[in-house]
Amino acid sequence: MKIDGRPTRSIWAEDGQVRIIDQRWLPHELRIVTLADRAAFATAIAEMWVRGAPLIGATAAWGMAVQMAADPSDASLAETWQILHETRPTAINLRWALDRMRAHLAPLPPVARAAAAEAEAQAICDEDVELNRRIGAHGLPLLRAIAARKGRVNVLTHCNAGWPATVDWGTATSPLYQAHEAGIDLHVWVDETRPRNQGAQITAWELGAHGVAHSLITDNAGGHLMQRGLVDLVIVGTDRTTARGDVCNKIGTYLKALAARANGVPFYVALPSPTIDWRVTDGLAEIPIETRDGAEVTHVQGLDDQGRIARVRISPATTAAVNPAFDVTPAELVTGLITERGICPATAEGLRALFPDLAPMS
Ligand code: MRU
Repeated sequence: MKIDGRPTRSIWAEDGQVRIIDQRWLPHELRIVTLADRAAFATAIAEMWVRGAPLIGATAAWGMAVQMAADPSDASLAETWQILHETRPTAINLRWALDRMRAHLAPLPPVARAAAAEAEAQAICDEDVELNRRIGAHGLPLLRAIAARKGRVNVLTHCNAGWPATVDWGTATSPLYQAHEAGIDLHVWVDETRPRNQGAQITAWELGAHGVAHSLITDNAGGHLMQRGLVDLVIVGTDRTTARGDVCNKIGTYLKALAARANGVPFYVALPSPTIDWRVTDGLAEIPIETRDGAEVTHVQGLDDQGRIARVRISPATTAAVNPAFDVTPAELVTGLITERGICPATAEGLRALFPDLAPMS
């Protein structure tokens, strides 16, 4: 999507180097950094310089490619899969991308691996852009239908499932961008998304940069707005969706799904197929939930009065914090899954009907 009118991706190769937007400093600073070696890629994923399920996968693929240029041996391939896989536990796109790279590279002689890895990492990125574009095309009619009925469409979204969470377009935001381009009168409620505030810092930034009308709200405001008929539709992303349609996404998503169900608001989840974990059925029992540093809860980052990025403590120094980073929304609470092949019910049958080639034989 565009920054200052310039089409921009979240990760790209340029002059033989891989560049990313270091998202820790958004929206206050647009810092572009080069990731030069495997250790830098691992740090960038683990410490959330890059984040969002599809982008984590794309970054791992490029990390593998950079390492293959340095050492294309079998041992290096195996070790790199392991090191990058350990960076974050919940988003399945990480494993999907690493498995795809390994399956592509392992049969090749080491001398052929560097070029093949670069081409495959680029293919993963280009495919991600196209999958997300199609998600938007399939989601657009939902917004059109609401617009035809009542004019302005109010959508609520949680965390950042926007273009910086993917290579481009975003998942949850792709229908929003396409509705905006189509001239639909759209307004987005942006959950701030404590503790890291990806909504306040990234979703608000990207929607603003693209000219999409939006309002930032506290995470606690969504239920209130739904009770008053001010939310027509919820669209969120997902870090891992199970074979029966349970959705694991940023902490707080489940509460939004409960409030949406209680108020008769449709709750959609947008996802590309690499976010489906076909090996897992029961999301609550089987998906590992990342626990992050309690300092993300006890501290917040922002711009101080001198215009410097600062981090301040908001709780007593002696108070401990617990920080589960994701939750699971059971499939029953999901109105539909918006995928690159269309919208399906959040059921095993619905997913299998759309992806008969990917779903394991029952
Ligand atoms: O911890 P993060 O910022 O990586 O979590 C991101 C999310 O939960 C997104 O909503 C999810 O990855 C969907 S991204 C298209």
